[in-house]
Amino acid sequence: MRHLIQTSDLSKDEVLHILQKATYFLDHQSSSQNLPPNQSLHGKNIITIFFENSTRTLSSFECAIKNLGGSVTRLDVSRSSTQKGETISDTAANLNAMNPEAIIIRHQSSGAPVHLTKSVSCPIINGGDGAHAHPTQALLDLLTLRQCLGEDLSKKRVGIIGDIKSSRVANSNIELLSRFGIHITLIAPPHFLPESTKLPFTHNLSEVIDSLDAIISLRTQTERHSKQNYGSLRDYAHNFCLTKSIIRDRDIVIMHPGPVHHNIDIEDDLLKDPRCKVLQQVRNGVAIRMAVMEYFILELKEGKCINN
Ligand code: NCD
Repeated sequence: MRHLIQTSDLSKDEVLHILQKATYFLDHQSSSQNLPPNQSLHGKNIITIFFENSTRTLSSFECAIKNLGGSVTRLDVSRSSTQKGETISDTAANLNAMNPEAIIIRHQSSGAPVHLTKSVSCPIINGGDGAHAHPTQALLDLLTLRQCLGEDLSKKRVGIIGDIKSSRVANSNIELLSRFGIHITLIAPPHFLPESTKLPFTHNLSEVIDSLDAIISLRTQTERHSKQNYGSLRDYAHNFCLTKSIIRDRDIVIMHPGPVHHNIDIEDDLLKDPRCKVLQQVRNGVAIRMAVMEYFILELKEGKCINN
C-alpha cells in the first residue's frame, strides 16, 4: 500500500504525471467545451481528519474529491473520541474499518501520518504534519512555478523567505524543487533558519533579490514556537516583508501558501500586483489534489504505477 507522507514518496516521473493530470483538469475546467463531469471517484468515500486549523488545504481536498464525483466524510475532531483520550492509532483503525478509499490527515505533530499507516489498509495522504511535510502544497507550488517560469526549471532561482525553521511548506519545497534543478536560497533572520542547512542563506533580502526568479514568502508560525525569540512582528516585517519598494519593477514571481499575514509577510499593495500568484496557487491546489486522489485511489490500485 502506497501513502503520500512526504514529497520523496513520489518519483520524479510520478510527480510529472501528477502535474500533467492537474494541468489537464485545469484546462478542461476553464474551457468552454461542455465535457461531461469526471466521475472517476463516484461511489467512493474519503475521510478527512484535520487536527489543526485549515482553510485552504481542507476545502481544497474536499472540492477536489467532489469534483471527481466522490464523497467526503469529515471527522469533526472537536467532537471525536480523541477528545476522550482515544489514541490517534485507534481513531485511524476505527475509521479504516468503515472502508474509506483514503484518509487525509493534518496533525500538529510531525510523524503522525506515517505512524497511522500501520493502522490502516487504505492510503494515508498527509495534509501537513507539524513542521515536517506538506507534500500537496509543494506539488502545487511546483506546478505554479512551471506555469510562470516554463517547464524547464533547472537553474531557476527561488528564494524562500520567512519562518523557514517551523515550516513544513519550506521542507517539502526544498526537497521537491531541488529535485527539479531549482537553486534555492533561504532568506530569514538567524532564529528562523534551520539549525543546519546545506543551502545558501542570507539575512539580507536586498542582497539576493536581483538574482531571484521567484520568491516564496512564509507566515511566521507563532503556534510552533516554544518561546518568542524575536522582538516583534513589526521589527521582523521591517526587514523581511515583501513590499513594492523592494520588488520595484523586477520580473519576479511572488508566492505564499497562505494564510498571509498582511503587511508582515507581504504588503497589501503587492498582494494585488499581477506578479503575486497566491490565488493561482489556490486554484492549482484543487487540480493537484484531484490528480493525487485519482493516482492514489485509482491508478495505483489498477497497477498503473508510474516508474517508481
Ligand atoms: C500552510 C500550512 O498549514 O502548512 N498553509 C497551507 O496549508 N496552505 C502554511 C501555514 O500554516 O503558514
